[in-house]
Amino acid sequence: MTERSEGKENGSVPPPPGFVEQANVSDAGIYDEFEENWPGCWERAAELLDWYEGYDEVLNDEDAPFYEWFVDGRLNASYNCVDRHLESGRKNHAALKWVGKLKETRTYTYQDLHREVNEFAAALRDIGVEEDDVVTMYMPMIPELPIAMLACARIGAPHSVVFAGFSADALATRMESADSGFLITCDGYYRRGNAFNQKSQADNAVLRLDNEITTVVVDRLGDELDHVLGEGQYGYDDLIRANAGATVEPVEREAGEALFLMYTSGTTGEPKGVVHGTGGYLSHTAWTSKAVLDIKPDDTYWCSADIGWITGHSYIVYGPLALGATTVMYEGTPDYPDRSRVWEIIERNSVDIFYTAPTAIRAFMKWGSEYPEAHDLSSLRLLGTVGEPINPRAWKWYYKNIGNENCPVVDTWWQTETGGMMVTTLPGVGDMKPGNAGPAVPGVSVEVVDDAGEAVESGEAGYLTVDKPWPGMLRTLHDGDGRYVDEYWRGFSRPDDDKWVYFSGDEARIDDDGYITVLGRVDDVINVSGHRLGTMEVESAIVGVEGIAEAAVVGSDGTETSIYAYAITEDGYDADASLRDEVATAVENGIGGFAQPEEVVFTTQLPKTRSGKIMRRLLEDIANHEPLGDTSALRNPEVVGEIEAIDGEEE
Ligand code: WT7
Repeated sequence: MTERSEGKENGSVPPPPGFVEQANVSDAGIYDEFEENWPGCWERAAELLDWYEGYDEVLNDEDAPFYEWFVDGRLNASYNCVDRHLESGRKNHAALKWVGKLKETRTYTYQDLHREVNEFAAALRDIGVEEDDVVTMYMPMIPELPIAMLACARIGAPHSVVFAGFSADALATRMESADSGFLITCDGYYRRGNAFNQKSQADNAVLRLDNEITTVVVDRLGDELDHVLGEGQYGYDDLIRANAGATVEPVEREAGEALFLMYTSGTTGEPKGVVHGTGGYLSHTAWTSKAVLDIKPDDTYWCSADIGWITGHSYIVYGPLALGATTVMYEGTPDYPDRSRVWEIIERNSVDIFYTAPTAIRAFMKWGSEYPEAHDLSSLRLLGTVGEPINPRAWKWYYKNIGNENCPVVDTWWQTETGGMMVTTLPGVGDMKPGNAGPAVPGVSVEVVDDAGEAVESGEAGYLTVDKPWPGMLRTLHDGDGRYVDEYWRGFSRPDDDKWVYFSGDEARIDDDGYITVLGRVDDVINVSGHRLGTMEVESAIVGVEGIAEAAVVGSDGTETSIYAYAITEDGYDADASLRDEVATAVENGIGGFAQPEEVVFTTQLPKTRSGKIMRRLLEDIANHEPLGDTSALRNPEVVGEIEAIDGEEE
């Protein structure tokens, strides 16, 4: 708990004056202005876009919680992120700067991007993709991924990007759930210099599906593709060549029509298919890219997330490209080939804005300041973080060693479901408090409440809720409107009073200035290095192993948050190394290598409440060597000593 409590004594840090002078937003009056003119204030966001048909109404809340933003407005996301920048004379401006794992680089100007997005959009139509067909993408960080996304957006086919690290099983589950008949993948990619066969994973997923799947394969490894292409499979380059010079008129989409699906973990085993619309989502991401990330069209901006997660969708692809900036996309890891990689990329590209995750910052801190010190980072103007709480020590290290105390740090809280940023300081307006994300974004309304849904006193922990709709909000869950209401709106809403409150699943504290400190998830979801995973998903993979009777997994925060698994063996099975390997393999096959437990602890029982619920909190405290919280609800208190003893032995 040390990291959490540290935040309290922390003083605030005013935004650097040099930054404020040039900031996109520097007037504190924006908070009142937005509050007084709500929801009309969100027009400021919609005005950043080009619409074919203006909206009649900013918000229609008649059918809450199925809100309609920018009612009857029509637009196209690909047009807004690409075409209009050609028309405004920026065709030779770099849109995408790609840095490959083997130090290759590729730059796409807006004109290049336009050409390839059009050609691929034409190709998608050739292979049978129609408006509203879901196109799944299973690709690492290569330029063809955002190109394919924008091509889908162009023809009104929602994309569903599945993180490349997911297993064939996980991919198949998501494709089946989305009823997706199209898959875009690549032959393979490099992991720390070694080629990894992505295509065989994709093929295995397709084998598991009943319906016919049309697959497009990008050549990432540089080998000939012909011999790997089976029936119903096309080479990306062949399709582009066949459509050379083709143009495709962007399809006019209604604001509420889907732009994409993104699967995320929930408390049950089945991943949730979050549906994002077009107008509200793009307005929210463009506006926050401008107001929070302070992106200007001439900026080179780098978000180090993976496009396979929401951060990459909103703040590598849609937000920055809507603003006409240069977005950097990096395929590799921060320590390959060495620990200078990130700083070298910033220096070489004169990156203005850098947005990353606390887990990465903690790793940089551990490696030492000599790596950033050896590089010229003076191009940086703003730093950001997202994905999990950042402890004040890491925050200060980042502020000092990377930002040279000249760059504001925005600690942005949001979620797959919120589409865009919800809680953060505005860098040119508010004081920063290390370890404390900040107030709600202007126009967003959050409340920290107790079990009864009443606002808690400042300083007390409660549930983090959002009590007014916002443009970037999910439209629904692909799995059904009922599940959408159940998952997010059941807990604290009072439908009889027409009061709808969105529950985030997070616990938080609010201080006297209205600043939010996010404490973490209160549901059975863990955050592994910024990747959200449902404990149920991992546990069901583990109990699928013969000889394992029961399992519980928790997150442990080291440098990287990792998974600790506690498992009970069935009678007659040895809790040995080979069983441990089987557990690891089961998780790799069921979910993906990134979800593999760091430790598998075999025990004879799990801590349970009298009603039989596993007390994960307690296991979490044990895994993190923290003082145990309240154990009075335990049915089997003796289990604690047993597990602590095993844990101790293993270290
Ligand atoms: C969960 C959402 C939003 C993009 C990345 C993750 C945690 C996110 C912060 C932050 C503390 C944070 C929350 C949230 N989280 N940002 N700045 N401070 N916690 O998206 O996979 O949907 O996960 O990430 O627990 O609920 P996601």
